[in-house]
Amino acid sequence: MVAVVVASLVGGAVCGPPKVPPGKNISATCDGKWLDAKATWYGKATGAGPDDNGGACGYKDVNKAPFNSMNACGNSPIFKDGLGCGSCYEIKCDKPAECSGEPVIVHITDMNDEPIAAYHFDLAGTAFGAMAKKGEEEKLRKAGIIDMQFRRVKCKYPADTKIAFHIEKGCNPNYFALLVKYAAGDGDIVAVDIKEKGSDEFVPLKHSWGAIWRIDSPKPIKGPIAVRLTSEGGTKLEQDDVIPEGWKPDTVYTSKLQF
Ligand SMILES: *[C@@H]1O[C@H](CO)[C@@H](O)[C@H](O)[C@H]1NC(C)=O
Repeated sequence: MVAVVVASLVGGAVCGPPKVPPGKNISATCDGKWLDAKATWYGKATGAGPDDNGGACGYKDVNKAPFNSMNACGNSPIFKDGLGCGSCYEIKCDKPAECSGEPVIVHITDMNDEPIAAYHFDLAGTAFGAMAKKGEEEKLRKAGIIDMQFRRVKCKYPADTKIAFHIEKGCNPNYFALLVKYAAGDGDIVAVDIKEKGSDEFVPLKHSWGAIWRIDSPKPIKGPIAVRLTSEGGTKLEQDDVIPEGWKPDTVYTSKLQF
């Protein structure tokens, strides 16, 4: 029995895909040099993955504006345990012949952990096809896995797209969890602090998972609440009363903030 198990483990190690260690974390302060990666795709050919799939960032509706199915699951140096959620990358490919070589922008909305390359983008079908010459999207998707190049870029959104906060399902006055989405600029957030009206100081939230930040508070958290955000590059933004007095779980509150 033991021998069989050992044999199958060894067999897996010999025959499985080569394991490639992940690359260095990509940060907002990287120099923007093009790097090599592998690209794969998932979900529907012209979709954003499964319907309403929040994925490992916790976003929903990634098929709708402003992501419009131009989204990707990044491996660990890109996803960064969720701190990379919302960051933006230019991606392009030169081979096979269907590749246009023209960069398109994708948003990190999920993670992947197949150890096939130092950097790996598992792209929504739409985003993978977007690297193709016009009309050759379907042919490019047939390649399944290709070499690509990528570089970190600033996220840009239409002027009327402001940072939105989703109070997560199951929140109550003693458990407050906030998902941050649609941050332009660096795109990813490294700190979230909140302040109840009338209080003098901001209280830091803990990174929970994906794009979600939380606090467990024995003292009920009352609205209105000010929120302060810090982008990966260190820029801070804050708005008073952005979460109203009678805040409710599973509700989106749109701010006036944008990086
Ligand atoms: C990469 O980022 C993750 C998430 O912030 C962190 O846990 C990890 O230590 C970083 N790795 C390196 C090599 O800096």
